[in-house]
Amino acid sequence: MASIDSITERLQAFGITDELKNYPGSNITQNPYDIFRCYITEQLSKVSGVSEDLIYPALEWTNSSERGDLIIPVPRLRIKGAKPNDLAVEWTDKFEKGKYLEKILAVGPFIQFYFDRNLLFNIVIKDVLKLEKNFGQSNIGAGKKVVVEFSSPNIAKPFHAGHLRSTIIGGFISNLYEKAGWEVIRLNYLGDWGKQFGVLAVGFERYGSEEKLEADPINHLFEVYVQINKDMEAEKEKTLAQTGVATSETDNNARAFFRAMESGDEKALDLWSKFRTLSIEKYKSTYARLNINYDTYSGESQVSQESMRTATEQLQKLGLVTEDQGALLIDLTPHNKKLGKVIVQKKDGTTLYITRDIGGAVERYEKYKFDKMIYVIACQQDLHCQQFFKTLELMGHEWHNRLQHINFGMVQGMSTRKGTVVFLDNILEETKEAMHNVMRKNEAKYAQVANPDEIADLVGISAVMIQDMQSKRINNYTFNWERMLSFEGDTGPYLQYAHSRLCSVRRNASSISDDELLSADYSLLAEPVAADLIKTIAQYPDVILNALKTHEPATIVTYLFKLTHIVSSCYDILWVAGQTPELAAARLALYMSARQTLNNGMTLLGLTPVIRM
Ligand code: ARG
Repeated sequence: MASIDSITERLQAFGITDELKNYPGSNITQNPYDIFRCYITEQLSKVSGVSEDLIYPALEWTNSSERGDLIIPVPRLRIKGAKPNDLAVEWTDKFEKGKYLEKILAVGPFIQFYFDRNLLFNIVIKDVLKLEKNFGQSNIGAGKKVVVEFSSPNIAKPFHAGHLRSTIIGGFISNLYEKAGWEVIRLNYLGDWGKQFGVLAVGFERYGSEEKLEADPINHLFEVYVQINKDMEAEKEKTLAQTGVATSETDNNARAFFRAMESGDEKALDLWSKFRTLSIEKYKSTYARLNINYDTYSGESQVSQESMRTATEQLQKLGLVTEDQGALLIDLTPHNKKLGKVIVQKKDGTTLYITRDIGGAVERYEKYKFDKMIYVIACQQDLHCQQFFKTLELMGHEWHNRLQHINFGMVQGMSTRKGTVVFLDNILEETKEAMHNVMRKNEAKYAQVANPDEIADLVGISAVMIQDMQSKRINNYTFNWERMLSFEGDTGPYLQYAHSRLCSVRRNASSISDDELLSADYSLLAEPVAADLIKTIAQYPDVILNALKTHEPATIVTYLFKLTHIVSSCYDILWVAGQTPELAAARLALYMSARQTLNNGMTLLGLTPVIRM
């Protein structure tokens, strides 16, 4: 990466010598839009007498270039006595455009600011080409730590759509915080404790194969789990018919095994630990296909009995716990009716899912001293999260307000055409196959791809991910093979296609060097589409900040589709081939900054942009 000149040097190159003031919350070294925001704030404050703190946050984006690049609704400045329309005219007359602005217009109660295109081209293109993958990076989170818990599947049980969404959204959120300078801990909280491990152990004795376990632990354990459950059902049916009471010896053995695990029996724990370790190993490689690397594989099993006991005792001391037939429960209704009553300890003394979440949160705080902890969990667990967050608050943990539940809706119809898919790995394999078939349909193109298998994998993964991230998290959606794998419309394959096409624009102009792109004469970029494109590229750092507020991947996805649509409309107008070297270099530089921005956005979402397809 070439080093980037200081903002002062960059502005000086443009004949601007006055020092630019950096307002709180603005970031002129990393965000081109902020350069203009800062200048406008300073000037407008000068001519209006309104405090800069009021002006800066009142500057808004516009939806269309006709309304300028930034706009300020004068009423937001709350000036008493004067009419906003009159003020707009008066201030506009006095405002000095300097070298930053092309024009400024008073329209009703609004003032519209139009950036100087040439300055915008010069700053943005050079920033993007020099910063490369760091374009969009900021340090607003520097020194802060966030724990992001996501995916969290259950061992020996299906990896269902809820886990898939948690994986995709959580991977994105982790990347997003990293882009904003936070230290991010990616944590997978496995469902790796409970009676099902007793069931699994008994099942493994009867049906298990060491070989299959080594080769494909996730599928094999699930197979065993399904089989042994059938046995238990059959036993229960039989005993019910014979004696009138349903009992299952297998079930009793399973309980006994889990009790042994809970009391620390080494043999029982060895087997459990083997299941766990092998499953994690397999998961790791599957997550890697999605560009996800966890810092830690935690899980329900890792929450210590001790911290759960301490928590329960603390709750008892605070008088929050009541006993009900030997079980311990907390009544949350005085605080909020909806929260109901929560059992934290069963009558046999064992703990529950929620107890583990309470103990687990305390342990994580002690370990990480996080500034924030995010749980990416389906909205079916909204109540569960509210309950354990509230409990932590009642326990007096001042950090309870650092916890945030990021939820999402359901996926309908994720079982596949074959109807067999239950695990992440199977989903990805089948998507790859389907993508490969779509690619084969275009024979001429297919013949040119050197590594079709790899491309089918990457593009297929993009299809699944974009389908998931393109509308608001809370919306439900239907898994739609045909639509998501299509190259047309707003799909993952379309984004990949747009990226690879930009790469081919670069390959086709290989006589132009990277240095020439940086020193090109951008004033040759006179067409309105070029202006639209540079403005959109310039917005990328702002878009990241927006996404940090909404925690919505759709904020980025929508932006990337807007960007690619503008690029595609440029192709008809801004030719590179057959132009003078100067014009070709300027246009190519613009395309390459679009490519870099698209690449950064796709990577942020967790995709791997392809170079050819
Ligand atoms: N393993 C759980 C499930 O499949 C999800 C865990 C969510 N995280 C948590 N801290 N409760 O439903």
